[in-house]
Amino acid sequence: MKFVFCQDASEVAEKAFEVVKKRIQSKPDSVLGLATGSSPLALYDLMIQSYEKGELDFSQVTTVNLDEYAGIDPANTQSYHFFMEQNLFSKVNLKKENTFLPRANGKNKQKAIEEYNAVLDQVGIRDIQILGIGQNGHIAFNEPSDVLNCRTGLVDLTQNTIAANARFFESIEEVPTQAISMGMADIMHTRTVILIATGKKKSEAVKKLYDGIKIDTHFPASLLWLHPDTIVFADWEAAYLINK
Ligand code: F6R
Repeated sequence: MKFVFCQDASEVAEKAFEVVKKRIQSKPDSVLGLATGSSPLALYDLMIQSYEKGELDFSQVTTVNLDEYAGIDPANTQSYHFFMEQNLFSKVNLKKENTFLPRANGKNKQKAIEEYNAVLDQVGIRDIQILGIGQNGHIAFNEPSDVLNCRTGLVDLTQNTIAANARFFESIEEVPTQAISMGMADIMHTRTVILIATGKKKSEAVKKLYDGIKIDTHFPASLLWLHPDTIVFADWEAAYLINK
């Protein structure tokens, strides 16, 4: 695992963007694993700007997202479908049929899970997987637990995650309590992992990840130590507990 420490969130986005840009330019049909939340937003902005300048072409790129809240309609403004549409898909020349997120709104969750695993099997190994990290060390919605899913599954969100995500909703009661999320093996099925961590709230998780003392399912991000090419981009605030 490689750590790249940056001054601020803008430098994190720029450094992460360099990796994404090089990969898409050298392999125009790259498969990107995408995350929602605040962490990747500045990176997505740089991808959009680069497309607008004519540097990057997404016409052959495929994307697969990490997760979607369970029971939420894709048209709902709180859904991750909507988030991706707003923050990336509608602003670059990605083809709609090449963008995938779990369809978590129907009654039959098991079917949605099987369908998403089939999508992941079909797109194959990703070129880059972009990740954020939860304050509790979750990646995607694989929450700290005695056991973690290998493949896509229905997961219960912890109170910590519900509270952290409440900022996107009118009230905490509106935050869904379950999600359909890629499993740990799915996340690892990528050539490169880019993990973005910015802000003080992530400092304990970043310190624990950096220390890398043990692989611990109660700190899911620690499993990334098993991946051969993980790069953690952290800003000064997220990294401030390291060497303290
Ligand atoms: C989002 C996801 C989550 C977030 C994490 C950090 O698709 O899977 O694991 O990456 O909760 O969220 P932010 O970036 O909002 O701090």
